[in-house]
Amino acid sequence: MELRIEGGKPLIGNFEVPPDKSITHRALMLASLCEGQSVIEAKGIGEDNQSTKKVLTDLGVAIQEDNGSIIVTSQGAKHFITPNQPLDCGNSGTTMRLLSGILAGAGINAELCGDASLSGRPMGRVCEPLRKLGANIRGTITNGRELPPLRIDATKAFKGGAIEVNVASAQVKSAIILAGVTSGRSVSVRQPAVSRNHTETMLKALGAPIRSYQETLGSVVVELGDGTKLLPTHFKIPGDFSSAAFFLAAGVLVADSRITITNVGMNVTRNAFLDVMLGVGARIDVADLNEHNGESVATLRVQPSFLCTPNSESESYIVGGGKIPLLIDELVILAALASQVRGTTKVQDAHELRVKESDRISETLRLLSSFGVQAIEQPDGFIIKGPQQLKAARVDVSSDHRIALTAAVLALAAPGESILSGFEVAAVSYPGFIDVLQKLGAKVRVA
Ligand code: S3P
Repeated sequence: MELRIEGGKPLIGNFEVPPDKSITHRALMLASLCEGQSVIEAKGIGEDNQSTKKVLTDLGVAIQEDNGSIIVTSQGAKHFITPNQPLDCGNSGTTMRLLSGILAGAGINAELCGDASLSGRPMGRVCEPLRKLGANIRGTITNGRELPPLRIDATKAFKGGAIEVNVASAQVKSAIILAGVTSGRSVSVRQPAVSRNHTETMLKALGAPIRSYQETLGSVVVELGDGTKLLPTHFKIPGDFSSAAFFLAAGVLVADSRITITNVGMNVTRNAFLDVMLGVGARIDVADLNEHNGESVATLRVQPSFLCTPNSESESYIVGGGKIPLLIDELVILAALASQVRGTTKVQDAHELRVKESDRISETLRLLSSFGVQAIEQPDGFIIKGPQQLKAARVDVSSDHRIALTAAVLALAAPGESILSGFEVAAVSYPGFIDVLQKLGAKVRVA
């Protein structure tokens, strides 16, 4: 699909973003671990969440969508059926990694596969700790890397225990915690930095006996008691902060825009991009703070702003260290923002971007350069000096949903018509994106 955008038209209006992708994955999985019927309020989920739904259905869980509600009826993981075909996780790393933990813990023989992008993503980070804790899970070794497809052989049982992993990844942490839940064994995970905490937050809301929970400056330890039993519940999913981020940026980059986004997830392990935006002078009001299942939500109002790094005259504005996991999915749109901020922005310690749905460091630089923006590539990030004049682009964005959505924001801000081919990939996380653009008054055309 080709999306044509005529830049420079102010974006004006109120809307909601799709349900949080990370929380929806977990709600579908946790509801499938409960005995009974759970309801998930989540309207307009994207393709990644559909992959989780499909895989759980293949495991014998009954899942129906009814006018914005997803009804999950299950007898718990011990009643999952052994699949006679590989479970297809599509483009979704969260589906594959969290399901690995669930199935390894439950002792289900299964194979997990994915699309071309997912098939190139590292799985040793989940398989190794699960193996150390007793499970028999193996990927395919290619050039020394453990990649999909993954095979779980239930003849060896997950035993649980304490483990330290060397990557601050919520997917890895969650896989281990969920293996603890489905095996009924205690687990404890330590990571080098704090990562998104939805799994722990939701388990607590479901009444799981989390015996100790510490979140200190660079480490997270979660322990689960033996015999964890989860009670069916009603999940209300907040709007996805990562999807809102594209409109927060568009709201300040497209002159005279006035955007209000309601019901946006405000979990502090997710929204460090808001701090960065405020730090470079964006005017964003936060109102109507509320909470559901331990997750906070708010209304965000974006006002016209003058963008400038805090120290524009002297040094670079550095985004790095423990902040990276807290805005990992916003670094592509952050690069687009940085191109219009007065001063130098440096993103460092973000090696993880190399192993996302695409190599997001090289893809971000390719995208920026097609819009006329020069940036310096680093092994673990990039350096961008702004502001730089944007020019309309013709660019293929099919490699990655966050590259496509960032391209749309750059196109909205650049004078003239941009042509984005392969834009259908945006539906991985944001299926109704083009409708929202039209509602806000953008000049867009699909060819
Ligand atoms: C996710 C965790 C992050 C993030 C991904 C979703 C999750 O990945 O990039 O989009 O739902 O747990 P990592 O765990 O690899 O950092």
